[in-house]
Amino acid sequence: MILCLCEAVNDRTIDTVIRDGAHSVREIGRRCGAGTGCGLCKVDLRERLAERRERDGEPEPVLSK
Ligand code: FES
Repeated sequence: MILCLCEAVNDRTIDTVIRDGAHSVREIGRRCGAGTGCGLCKVDLRERLAERRERDGEPEPVLSK
C-alpha cells in the first residue's frame, strides 16, 4: 500500500527503513523520500515510528522546543 503519494513510497519500504534504524520522520525522508513533499503522510510515518518503539520497548523521544 502506498503511504506517501508524493514520492510513491509504500508501507513495506517505510517499515524497512524504520527497521534499519530510521528514528524520525526526517530520517525516513532522507532514506526513502517519504514525507518530503506535501507532508500529508507525516502523521502515518509518526504512527509507524510509534508502533515500532512500542514493539521494541523504546521510550518516546524527548522533543526539543
Ligand atoms: S504524501 Fe508524503 S509527502 Fe505528500
